[in-house]
Amino acid sequence: MAATSSFHGHAAAAPLSATAAGPLSGRLRPPGDKSISHRALILGLLAVGKTTIEGLLEGDDVLRTAAACRALGARVERLGPGRWSVDGAGLGSLLAPRETLDFGNAGTGTRLLMGVVGGHPITATFDGDASLRKRPMRRILDPLTLMGAQVLAEAEGGRCPVILKGTGDPASIEYRTPVPSAQLKSAVLLAGLNSPGRTVVIETEASRDHTEKMLAYFGATIVSEPDGAHGRRIVLEGRPELRARDVIVPADPSSAAFALTAALLVPGSDVTIEGMMMNPLRIGLLTTLQEMGARIDVLNPRIEGGEDVADLRVRPSQLTGVEVPAARAPAMIDEYPILAVAASFAKGETRMRGLAELRVKESDRLAAVADGLTAAGVENRIEGDDLIVTGSDKVRGGGTVKTHLDHRIAMSFLVMGMASQQKMTIDDASMIATSFPTFQPEMERLGAKFGA
Ligand code: S3P
Repeated sequence: MAATSSFHGHAAAAPLSATAAGPLSGRLRPPGDKSISHRALILGLLAVGKTTIEGLLEGDDVLRTAAACRALGARVERLGPGRWSVDGAGLGSLLAPRETLDFGNAGTGTRLLMGVVGGHPITATFDGDASLRKRPMRRILDPLTLMGAQVLAEAEGGRCPVILKGTGDPASIEYRTPVPSAQLKSAVLLAGLNSPGRTVVIETEASRDHTEKMLAYFGATIVSEPDGAHGRRIVLEGRPELRARDVIVPADPSSAAFALTAALLVPGSDVTIEGMMMNPLRIGLLTTLQEMGARIDVLNPRIEGGEDVADLRVRPSQLTGVEVPAARAPAMIDEYPILAVAASFAKGETRMRGLAELRVKESDRLAAVADGLTAAGVENRIEGDDLIVTGSDKVRGGGTVKTHLDHRIAMSFLVMGMASQQKMTIDDASMIATSFPTFQPEMERLGAKFGA
């Protein structure tokens, strides 16, 4: 399908540098979790009544999902900073959007809402920026097709723009996910919501479980049990009565990762991260950094909004390279770029195993990280799907890193510049707004130094 709109373009690139920072100190409340923010809006759309959301991430990715939920029939309002309400259209009663759903850079919004549309008798067009247009959508469209949805058009290789015609009577399926992806699992479950029967999803490696938890919280009957050594089997009863709920969004561990790593690497730092979500399927980075010798005190563990949260006090630490097992990848999938930065300053070699999925994120993150490390003078190599980084206590830094429309590549290499001998420059900081719009001022408040 030909490109028909201008929105897949990108505003002018905004280069930014980070230079060696003095000690970082203070407290930081990272923005609301991106995964939970998308899901809160989507379940608000599918429920009957008014859902309120506290602490919603107001990043570009989530705002695109809010706009898409409006186009599908919800009334979505911003009540104040991070406070939103969603008057649901209700499961089975969605409107067909009149315009293309433009998801910008957001893979999660695209894929989860493909699931929702796939299970309703409506047709919608999904599109986004140049990064989104490169990302594989077949993995989502295949199970939706099994359930009865039809792909009316797609770009080469199953990519956006995609025109999807859903079905009001999705077949109940048992689906084993071929890749460990919470987005894929969630798309199948969300389509299965409108099925008269049961939907079963089996994953060999457990991925983040926010969809399952939130579906149960909104009133669905859903059971998740262990399957094999690391997997889960999830059974969802179709056509539940979803009731509007109040959702509190905990702080995003994937955004906290940047301040946390910076505080470990910049001498003299002492930073406390407040309210970080400690869901076991999201804290692989914390586990890995602790194995590497990081000094991180986990304080005040508590439950907020149905999730485990805690405050983390972080101080500089001498890190030592470790081997990160492939089985841990789903629990830290978005954190490999920042782990690679931490590994650059560690003693010895860090081997991160099983990173195939990194190649299909907002950019080919495996290549982008390796190129950035090379630009900074850090010895690294890719062997198959593994990344091996050889660290040193003196990282030269310098050079300009290409971010390829990827927010996490951008923030990771800015953190490197806070601790390396020469400044690090990234070619474009604008994508940081997709997940952490206040990154620069918040990091400056802790003591980071950015410049042209
Ligand atoms: C997400 C799942 C992960 C992650 C993404 C958010 C989600 O993707 O990389 O940033 O909210 O479900 P995959 O499920 O494709 O691994």
